Amino acid sequence: MLPKTIDTVYFSPTGTSCRVVRAIAEAIATTDRNTAPAETTRPAEIPVRTFDLTHTPVAETTLPATHIVLFAVPVYGGHPAPTALARMHDLHGDGTPAVIVVVYGNRAFEHAAEELAAFVAERGFRPIAAAAFVGEHSYSSDTHPIAIGRPDASDLADAAAFGTAVRRKLLGTTPTEIDIRQLKTPRTPLIPLLRFIRFVLRYRRQQRRNPVVYLPDGDTSHCTHCGRCAAICPTQAIVRGDETRTDAARCIRCCACVKGCPVGARSFTTPFAAALARNFGKRKPPVTLF
Ligand SMILES: Cc1cc2nc3c(=O)[nH]c(=O)nc-3n(C[C@H](O)[C@H](O)[C@H](O)COP(=O)(O)O)c2cc1C
Ligand code: SF4
Ligand code: SF4
Repeated sequence: MLPKTIDTVYFSPTGTSCRVVRAIAEAIATTDRNTAPAETTRPAEIPVRTFDLTHTPVAETTLPATHIVLFAVPVYGGHPAPTALARMHDLHGDGTPAVIVVVYGNRAFEHAAEELAAFVAERGFRPIAAAAFVGEHSYSSDTHPIAIGRPDASDLADAAAFGTAVRRKLLGTTPTEIDIRQLKTPRTPLIPLLRFIRFVLRYRRQQRRNPVVYLPDGDTSHCTHCGRCAAICPTQAIVRGDETRTDAARCIRCCACVKGCPVGARSFTTPFAAALARNFGKRKPPVTLF
């Protein structure tokens, strides 16, 4: 049976998870011309609601089994971004069908989808579909491009196709739960993978000997104090009026401030950017499970 409402729940500092989940939701909401007349007796459009957790956590809420909930989060270090999970803590389902979406920067999503599925299942949701899409890496820049411009038109077409597949699944009797372990990162060629592992081992060794804290910072000679970075920072790590500094304890290195500064006055320098750009240049396609 088609749901009464589609709820999108996402955390998306640089906007890629948001774009992917919107494309999926739009396709679920829209009549699938290819399955008519099966759909002719049903309402064509389903309303879509948004829970954007990028700046604030969700208040205590239970979403009924007549809804479908799309969870979309970026992958940080092979896990769902911890701030995203913290902000979803008070959201509950009641056997409510859910779609798990992780968005990663063309390296790997590792166990992120599994962990997000387990997290929502503990809160009363029933994962019936899942997908991993690629978004431009938060650390990507002109000097070190990593999955630049993604999700692009091809990714968004795949997101729409996935949404249509989910809609068809919902049209059936009781949509079955998925085995999330079947959702796997597309393979990285062996040489770049080994090169990246060697880089990580060296980086860890150096950090043990001589720890360095990498943090985005602002260029005082270019900053116009427009306040945009302070407004878009999801964790209040930038204070209005003092925008060239970053509170290390609050910053999650999401790079929203770097990408959002209109004059390029904020930057984030990390050795990971060059290593990722060098080793993960081969395009990874979206993967889906339903
Ligand atoms: C702290 C941090 C860790 C990340 N870790 C990974 C990772 O393990 N694998 C990967 O492929 N991308 C990784 N990324 C890239 C993001 O998952 C990717 O850019 C995503 O599209 C960002 O989502 P958003 O636009 O919704 O913020 C990381 C980004 C950040 C900021
Ligand atoms: S967005 Fe850029 S120019 Fe505006 S306050 Fe922040 S660093 Fe300065
Ligand atoms: S200061 Fe840190 S947390 Fe805030 S937007 Fe910039 S990178 Fe993200």
